Amino acid sequence: MKCKVCKDVAVVALQSHNAAFCAACYGKFFSRQVARGIASHKLFTKEERVLVALSGGKDSLGIMLELKNQGYNVTGLHVDLGIPVSSAAARGVTERFCAKHGLPLIVREMEKEGLPIPEVKRLLPTRPVCSVCGKIKRYYFNLTALEQGFDALATGHNLDDETARLFSNTLRWDTEYLADQGPLLPAEGGFVKKVKPLWRLTEFETANFAYLMGIDNWYAPCPYSQGATFSDLKGLLHRLERRMPGRKLAFYQGFLERGKQAFLGKTRKAETVHPCTRCGYPTSSEGLCGVCRIRDAIEAKRGSGA
Ligand code: AMP
Ligand code: FES
Ligand code: ZN
Repeated sequence: MKCKVCKDVAVVALQSHNAAFCAACYGKFFSRQVARGIASHKLFTKEERVLVALSGGKDSLGIMLELKNQGYNVTGLHVDLGIPVSSAAARGVTERFCAKHGLPLIVREMEKEGLPIPEVKRLLPTRPVCSVCGKIKRYYFNLTALEQGFDALATGHNLDDETARLFSNTLRWDTEYLADQGPLLPAEGGFVKKVKPLWRLTEFETANFAYLMGIDNWYAPCPYSQGATFSDLKGLLHRLERRMPGRKLAFYQGFLERGKQAFLGKTRKAETVHPCTRCGYPTSSEGLCGVCRIRDAIEAKRGSGA
């Protein structure tokens, strides 16, 4: 197989784009897709300071490196969840990656914040740990971005994550989630702007990029998760993509261009969001925000000697 661009030996074949590339031309293809994803939805500019949430996985480390190479002003943020073995490994690859590429990194330790995930799981056994953990992570993403004056918070969500979420929202016709879904969620009411610059690229395409760029990453699933998020839907879409190459991107792009407008005005922001009475984080519930309530529940359990 030959590279579509330079006719050298191809190392990556992409059915969805009906093309194969050598390593150098694949890097350029990846860059172009990221640049198109940013420009077409005006995600951020080179003047803005972007905080990139780095889990230690290939997606977030890959987009961090690509944004740096494109001349964006990026800083990494890693949330150390305090889970034995896996958190130290994820933090280690993230720290080594940032040191190797001369990238600034902020680390927030949940142990120091009084919210180590193993303890949260032990003390709040009736609540699904992944959803509590997700809430805590999003809280620290937003807090750190606002405290340190960043203009945007970027995550490593890719096309597979986004199409699986879109499919799930569609199956439930969840108009509020459909109204908010997309690569750009503008800043509003105490929330920093959120962006997903990898939205045009699949997990396979990002994995190839990370491999060819020699990015060492942490790929073991979280020991507490029951399997990857949306794994059934991802499998379904994967089979569809094999039969109809390019369908995933067309599905998502079509939604952004033609479907999403049907849900305008249905967004959850319509409800009154106000600052948490203790920490100021925006919340739709009366009084305390979700994380302050988790903190109180844990304190109560600790106080009772649990
Ligand atoms: P996930 O929900 O685990 O697939 O992660 C989605 C995105 O959230 C990743 O690509 C990262 O940008 C971000 N993320 C997840 N976990 C962490 C973490 N512990 N610290 C920083 N960012 C994270
Ligand atoms: Fe949060 Fe697993 S429970 S990453
Ligand atoms: Zn609060």
